[in-house]
Amino acid sequence: LFVQSLEWVFGMNPSLPAFNLQDHDQLVVLYAGAHVGIIYNHTTNSQHILQGHCRPISCMCVSEDRRWIATADQGPTSTVMIWDSYSGYIPVQTLFGCHSEGVVTAMAFSGDTKYLVTLGAEEVQRVCIWDWTNGIEKPLWSTELSPKHGFHSTLAGASFTQSVFHWRKSQIITATTAGGLVVWNVMEDFAANQSFPEDRIQLLCIQKDPITALAVIDSCIVTGDTRGHIHFYDGEFLLLTWYSKLNLDAIVSISFSKEKYNIVCLQSKLNFVVSTVSSIVHVNTQQGTSQILLHENGEPLHAVACHPSQSAVAMGNQRGILKVWDYDNKVIISRRVFETEKQIQCVTFDPQGLYLAVGFSSGAVHILNPSTLQSDPEEGFHYTNDSIEHITFSSDSKYLATADAGKAVTVLRLQTSKGSVPCWTFMGRHHSHYKPIKDLLFGIHLDSTQPRLLSLGTDFRLVEYDLENSDVNKLLILSSERIEQSAVPLCMTWCPPFSAEQFLLVASDQYKIKLFNSTTKMCRKTVLGPTYGSPVKKVVVLPMSVEPRVNSHYLAYITEDKVGLQILPLDGNPYKSSALICHPTGVFAFACSHDGRYLFTAGGSDCTVMSWEISTDALEASAALGGKDMVPFYTLLEGGRDGKFYREMEDFFYYCLVRNQGTDSMEERQTATKIPLSDVPSLMRALAYFPTEQEIEDMQNEVKFSKYAETGKYVTDIDLEEFIKLYVNHRPAFGISSDELARTFHVLGGRDSTGQLVLQKHELLELLQARGEHMTEEDVAECFTILLGLNEEEEEEEGARGGGDHSEHDILKSECMWKKNSLTNQNLRIHTTAEKTSPIFDVCFCPGGDPKYSLELAIPVEISMETFTGYILGFPSSAEQRGSSSPPE
Ligand SMILES: *[C@@H]1O[C@H](CO)[C@@H](O)[C@H](O)[C@H]1NC(C)=O
Ligand SMILES: *[C@@H]1O[C@H](CO)[C@@H](O)[C@H](O)[C@H]1NC(C)=O
Ligand SMILES: *[C@@H]1O[C@H](CO)[C@@H](O)[C@H](O)[C@H]1NC(C)=O
Ligand SMILES: *[C@@H]1O[C@H](CO)[C@@H](O)[C@H](O)[C@H]1NC(C)=O
Repeated sequence: LFVQSLEWVFGMNPSLPAFNLQDHDQLVVLYAGAHVGIIYNHTTNSQHILQGHCRPISCMCVSEDRRWIATADQGPTSTVMIWDSYSGYIPVQTLFGCHSEGVVTAMAFSGDTKYLVTLGAEEVQRVCIWDWTNGIEKPLWSTELSPKHGFHSTLAGASFTQSVFHWRKSQIITATTAGGLVVWNVMEDFAANQSFPEDRIQLLCIQKDPITALAVIDSCIVTGDTRGHIHFYDGEFLLLTWYSKLNLDAIVSISFSKEKYNIVCLQSKLNFVVSTVSSIVHVNTQQGTSQILLHENGEPLHAVACHPSQSAVAMGNQRGILKVWDYDNKVIISRRVFETEKQIQCVTFDPQGLYLAVGFSSGAVHILNPSTLQSDPEEGFHYTNDSIEHITFSSDSKYLATADAGKAVTVLRLQTSKGSVPCWTFMGRHHSHYKPIKDLLFGIHLDSTQPRLLSLGTDFRLVEYDLENSDVNKLLILSSERIEQSAVPLCMTWCPPFSAEQFLLVASDQYKIKLFNSTTKMCRKTVLGPTYGSPVKKVVVLPMSVEPRVNSHYLAYITEDKVGLQILPLDGNPYKSSALICHPTGVFAFACSHDGRYLFTAGGSDCTVMSWEISTDALEASAALGGKDMVPFYTLLEGGRDGKFYREMEDFFYYCLVRNQGTDSMEERQTATKIPLSDVPSLMRALAYFPTEQEIEDMQNEVKFSKYAETGKYVTDIDLEEFIKLYVNHRPAFGISSDELARTFHVLGGRDSTGQLVLQKHELLELLQARGEHMTEEDVAECFTILLGLNEEEEEEEGARGGGDHSEHDILKSECMWKKNSLTNQNLRIHTTAEKTSPIFDVCFCPGGDPKYSLELAIPVEISMETFTGYILGFPSSAEQRGSSSPPE
C-alpha cells in the first residue's frame, strides 16, 4: 500500500520512440514520460505504468513477440529494468550499473529474446551483451568503440540519423540527413579492427527530405521524414508506396505490430504506430485510415490547477496550450491555444468555479470562463512585462492577486454595479519586496470576515496588504515584517484550526516549518519539516475527507523532485510524513483535487503532469509503525534512547533540576521533573546547539504560549520530554556545515599573502559588535577570555572541587561542560547573510594592564577559518565530524 500511487501520466517524452504492442483488436502502445514507461491501452483508455526508475528514461526496447520490455534510465550508474508485459507489468530483472561511466543510449533484444545488447555513452563507448534471463552481474561479452569513429547514439549508428539491421540480407542501413541511405553489406568473416571495405558500401539517394526514422518489416524498408511522410521500399530500394496525407509532424519512430507480415507487403493488412514530435498515431493501411492515439505538445509545462467542485484539472504549457481534462474519465473537456501570449506560467480557478485565471511569462493575465475558455475582457490584462509567477483568488471570488518576477504584487477587483455585469478592474500594483516573491495567499479576517492578502519573499519578509483602504491605483501595505534571520521562506498556507488561535504555516529552506500567529506574526511553533533531500517548496492543506470517519487534517507538499504528504498537526515526528520522487528533473507546481483524492504534479521541463492517488490510510499506518509518544523523537537523537547523547542530555537536565533546587536532599531532587524556561537556552548550548537570540525568543514563546489559548495562563517550565521535542525541532536540521562557514569567510574575509581566506582581528571584532545580533564590547571580551582560556585560575578552582560520590561527580562534570559550552559559544556567531561593508567603527581593546591586554595578544592578527573553528571555538576539525551534516537522500 502506497501513500502516493501514480495513477495517470499526462504527456510524453517526445524524443523517445513509441512501440506498437497491439494485441488483436486492442490498440496498445508503449512510450515514455519522465522516469516511467507507459503502456497505453487506447481501446479501453487505460494506462499501465512501469514504475521503478528514479531518473528519466534514456531508452527503451521491446522483444519481437512484444512480451518483454526493457527500460534504461539516465542515472549516474545506468539501471536497466526488464518487464513482463503479459504478467502484470512487473520488473522481472534489474541490471544495476550496466554502464558505470555513462547512461545507456540504446538497447535491443536479440531475435530470440535471450540476450539484451546495450550501448553506453561513456567517453570510450562500450557495447555489452547481457544474458539477462540468468541474472548475471556481468555482461556476457563487451567491447569498446574507438572514439576516433565519432560518437554513436543509436545501435549500429554512426554520425547519421538512424540505423537498422536488415536480417534477410545482412545489411546495415543508415539514414542520412540528406534524404539518402548508406547500405553496409556485412561479411561473416570480418577480422577484429578491420576497416569496412569501400566496395561493400552503397550510397543511395532516395528522397529529398531528411530521413528521421527507419524500420524494416519483412523485406521492406520503411522511412519517415521531417515532413511527416512515410515511404515503403522493397529490398532493392524501389519505392512501393507512400503516405503523405497523414498530416503529421517530423517523424520520430515507426513501429509495427507483432503479427507476421508476408510482404509483398501491400496485399496484407499493415498496422503500425508512428510517433512524431507531438503525437502518437496508429495507421491502418488496409482501411487507409490513421487515428491519433495521443496528442501532446512536448513543451515544458509549469501550470496546473484543479476545479473547486468538479473532476477537472487545467494545465498550461510553454507554447500557450491550455487544456482542461476530466480526470475521472481521462478525456479533454476543453482546449485553447494562446497564440500571442504563449508561455503559460500559472493557472488557478476561483473558489466558486466561475473563473479560470491564467498568468503568462509576458506579464499578461487572462480571466476565462472555465467552460468556454473565452477571455473576459478579450485582450486580458497587461500591467507588467515581468513574468506572472503566482496567481490566486480570494475566497469570496472578489479579488484576484498576482505576484510577478518584478517583485511586485498586483490586485484586480470584481466591480459590481447595479444593472451591469460584473467586470474585473485593475486595483493596483505594489513593489512590496526587494527579492523574488515566493508565495501569495488570501485569507479572511477573523473578526470582519473580509479578505486579507499576504505575500512572502526571499527577502525574508511577510507583507500584508490593506485591501480595505486600498483604491484604484493605490494598493496599500498594512505591514511588512521580517520573519526569518537566515532561513529563506519558500511557501505558506493557512493551518487548519486546531485551537482558538489562527496560524500561518511557513516552510523554509532550512527544513523548518513555523507557525505564526496570523495577527501579531509572532512565531509560535517551530518544527522539523520533511527531510527528503530538498526543502518543501510548495504546500497545500488537503480538503477534509468526505468520509466522516476520517477526521484528521493532512498537508500535501512538493520538494525539488518529490511529492509528499504530512499528518497534521505538525509535531516534528518524522514518521508522520512520506514522500517519493514525482519528477526526477524537478517538479514545478502541484494541485490537489477538490475531494482530496488526487494530487497533480507538473514536471516543468519533462513536459508531463502526473496524477497521484493518495491514501491517508497508508500514511497513518506507516506513521503508526514509527512508534507512539516519545519513541519517534528518540530516533532523531544521535544513538537513540540508549545512546551516549541521550544520557548526556539527561545528565544536563538533571543537573539543571538540582541547580534550581539548591542543596536540598537527593530524594527531593528526584521528585522534581521540570526546569524553568529560562534555563532552556543554556541547556541547548550545553548540547552544542547554539541558537541566536531570536531563536531563543521563539523557543521561549513557543513554550510560554503553548496553553494560553485554552487556559489563559503562561507555561513557565518544561520536563525532559518536552525539552527533547523542543531540541529536535529547533536545532539546525543538519548541523552547521563547514561549507557554510567557508561561504561566510568568502563573503567577509580577504586573502592573505598565501591566498588563504582570512579575517583580520580588528575586522572580526568589529563584525561581532556591529552586525547581526551584535554584542557589546564587554560581551566580546568575556567570550574571548573564556574561549582562549585566559581565566585559568577560575578553572583550576572548579577542577579542585571534583570527587565525592558518583552522581555528585557527574553533576560537577556536567557543570564544567555546561559553563564552558554555554558561555563560550554565546553569541559568537556571524550571520552568513551579512554582506561585507566598510569598517563601521573602531573598536579598541586598549593595552593597559587589565585582562584585555593579554586578550589583545592572545587573538591572532589574521584569523583563517581553521583558526576560528579550531583555535578560537575549539571545535573538532571538519574531518573528525564529517558525515554528520549533509541532507540525506
Ligand atoms: C487492454 O485493455 C483490455 C480491457 O481492460 C484488456 O483486456 C487488454 O488485455 C488490454 N491490452 C493490453 C495489451 O494490455
Ligand atoms: C585494434 O587496434 C588497436 C589500436 O589500433 C589495438 O590497440 C588493439 O589491440 C586492436 N585490437 C585487436 C583485437 O586487434
Ligand atoms: C512592456 O514593454 C513594451 C515594449 O518595451 C512597452 O511599450 C510597454 O509599455 C511595457 N509595458 C509595461 C506594462 O511596462
Ligand atoms: C495572536 O496572539 C495574540 C496574543 O497572544 C492573541 O490574543 C490572539 O488571539 C492571536 N491571534 C490569532 C488570530 O490567533
